[in-house]
Amino acid sequence: MSFSAMPKVELHLHLEGGAPPAFVRGMAKEKSIDISGIFNEDGSYAYRDFWHFLEVYEAATSVLTSPEDFARLTTAVLEKSAAHGVVYCETFLSPDFCGGRDVGAWREYLAAIKEAADKAEAQNGITLRGIVTPIRHFGPEKAKETALCAAETAGDWVVGFGIAGDEKAGEPGDFAYAFDMAREAGLDLTAHAGEWRGPESITNALNDLRVSRIGHGVRSIEDPALVDRLAEEKVVLEVCPGSNVFLGVYPSLAAHPIERLREAGVIVTVSTDDPPFFHTTMTREYNDLAETFGWDDDAFRALARASLDAAFCDADTKARVAKRLETS
Ligand code: HPA
Ligand code: ZN
Repeated sequence: MSFSAMPKVELHLHLEGGAPPAFVRGMAKEKSIDISGIFNEDGSYAYRDFWHFLEVYEAATSVLTSPEDFARLTTAVLEKSAAHGVVYCETFLSPDFCGGRDVGAWREYLAAIKEAADKAEAQNGITLRGIVTPIRHFGPEKAKETALCAAETAGDWVVGFGIAGDEKAGEPGDFAYAFDMAREAGLDLTAHAGEWRGPESITNALNDLRVSRIGHGVRSIEDPALVDRLAEEKVVLEVCPGSNVFLGVYPSLAAHPIERLREAGVIVTVSTDDPPFFHTTMTREYNDLAETFGWDDDAFRALARASLDAAFCDADTKARVAKRLETS
């Protein structure tokens, strides 16, 4: 079976980060917003490094101003993901970008996103669930408002709470109140850590936020005791190899620690993060892992099952998606 047709589970995708540049340009034109500065001559997103990426990301997101815009984005993103064999996906959603953290507005954005996701499920067989995500560099007070949005809408569709943005802004513990609120609302938890800061950022996220998954977490490889802890406690890493290589966390996939983490018994999953920004797709991730580390079909089947096990959705949804993986 070709890698593009192989059924896949993706756990780490920023919804706005999945927006094709042409989609953002089209929406900017409709609204007469000038964001031409965020594109290269070839039409791709233009930025110098991760911090500039965050600025360009926010500029791209600024053209999305209504629930209907987010519905169209969801349709565009899921169409692409489904074309690459993704059958189950969890996406980060930020009330900051969806109604400015107002609970009533957030409900409207969420309803529009869910409706688009339901249509994509009926048409393309892809199931989407949401992880509500404050933006770390917006600070802990805004994160509390975001946690309230998450708590008010927690259920079968909003299944998790996370944190994205600049990993160097503040400490995980600054966001403990928001994470406690989300946990009390029954949400599963994840946090970006161990991408731009070292192993201690992962230890702090585990200890202070009590997350069960880590976004990236790859720099755990710098601390063997932490690698042992991740394996022992079955902490799941949402690894995004293409993103890490594109942004220069590692010079090449060959130098990336995903294979060493896997060999050490850590549960690793594979995602694209912000695919058009990093010029990747799930098929490309699979191709590159096969080429660089010799992963075969069995390895990818095991990866998809482990990823589904680590998903935050309910057991019925997992059982339904598991059938899609078995029939491959
Ligand atoms: N990393 C951290 N924060 C983000 C990202 C990302 O890839 N995309 C959007 N916010
Ligand atoms: Zn991310």
